Amino acid sequence: MQELYELTDRLVGDQSLIQATLSQPRSKEAGSAGKVTVKPIALKGEPFYQFSAYIGTKVQHENVPQAEAARKLADWLGSSFRQGLLQAGEADYQVLLSKKGKLAVLKKPPTKQAAEGLPQAHNRKKRYELEEGVPVPFLVELGIMNAEGKVLAKKYDKFRQINRFLEMIADVLPHLPEGRKLHIIDFGCGKSYLTFALYHYLHVSRGLDIQIVGLDLKEDVIRFCNGLAQRLGYERLRFLVGDIADYDELERVDMVVTLHACDTATDAALDKAVRWNASVILSVPCCQHELFAQVKSEVLSPLLQHGILKERFSALATDALRAKLLELVGYRTQLMEFIDLEHTPKNLLIRAVKAGKPPAPAERAKLAAEYKQFRQFIHADPYLEHALDGLLNLETADSD
Ligand SMILES: C[S@@+](CC[C@H](N)C(=O)[O-])C[C@H]1O[C@@H](n2cnc3c(N)ncnc32)[C@H](O)[C@@H]1O
Repeated sequence: MQELYELTDRLVGDQSLIQATLSQPRSKEAGSAGKVTVKPIALKGEPFYQFSAYIGTKVQHENVPQAEAARKLADWLGSSFRQGLLQAGEADYQVLLSKKGKLAVLKKPPTKQAAEGLPQAHNRKKRYELEEGVPVPFLVELGIMNAEGKVLAKKYDKFRQINRFLEMIADVLPHLPEGRKLHIIDFGCGKSYLTFALYHYLHVSRGLDIQIVGLDLKEDVIRFCNGLAQRLGYERLRFLVGDIADYDELERVDMVVTLHACDTATDAALDKAVRWNASVILSVPCCQHELFAQVKSEVLSPLLQHGILKERFSALATDALRAKLLELVGYRTQLMEFIDLEHTPKNLLIRAVKAGKPPAPAERAKLAAEYKQFRQFIHADPYLEHALDGLLNLETADSD
């Protein structure tokens, strides 16, 4: 089902979905929808998707904000229909689901043109959460803006990075629990530009009930961050000195953020997140040294004989294995580009969202087999696999 969620996330996220039609309902009972259509609309200038459920002779409409539409579309298609036609500007995607829930996605030439259905709002200029000209106290304190809201020339990249990060946060909001306080942790927070941005966006701007903890090894940095949180009156944000692997203060955490924490510190953060059953994990790994010392393959020797290629390959392989392990423990995982200030290859973000249910046994076995085959092929022995021991059941894989 992962593939289905990725497809709807992408088509709704980049606003290329023109129409979706769900047909062949699993249930023929009176009262259940025989067909559902989904199309983009604009409401007060904002992008929404209209879901129309055809029940008997009636049609029920529901307008769903863009941020929630991808998940709703995939949930509905995956649970109640055996066929979906997703028409986008680039292609048509025919989604077929067998009785046992096996998924096939066929990509075909497009049959609808974007101009036919897309409302004006879908082509409008993107608005950023933080706008130049509007002074925001934490950005002023951190020296990104001046008191008039002008972004300092040297800090423009940082300003864009913060906005990009907040867009990603906006995208995952529908996956977080509602109606109670949200617990969030930023592991390896450093000087905490993004932690302050997170607090500003979720609590100051959106009024959500939250508690954020930033954790880092560096005492001086944590002292600075606590002082700044106090000056800003950010009462639900506190910073602690400590090692990610040893952190055991909280029993429940809903979202784990770990941006550029070094090497296996990222794995320690992912392990904690999984054990908390966090709804959302956002992780930008950094300095993935672990596999560099392990990876071996005769087939890959033309690549591995060059230090720089081996380094990049090891980093990519580490993240591929991390993503697969997260899928195995019930996360829908995507790798996306994140703006990196130094323009290095360290610009991948692992976005993992807790799936509604754990993978079915057949899907689990497939994921485990894929994981083991790749890990064995490159002779890797990753930290995260050991850390998650007991949750993985890798022996269910066919390939052993
Ligand atoms: C490159 S900085 C990133 C800071 C911030 N997250 C960002 O993206 O702007 C990495 C931070 O992770 C912290 N760190 C690395 N390993 C850690 C560990 N095991 N426990 C806690 N913090 C760690 C470092 O002290 C450093 O401040």
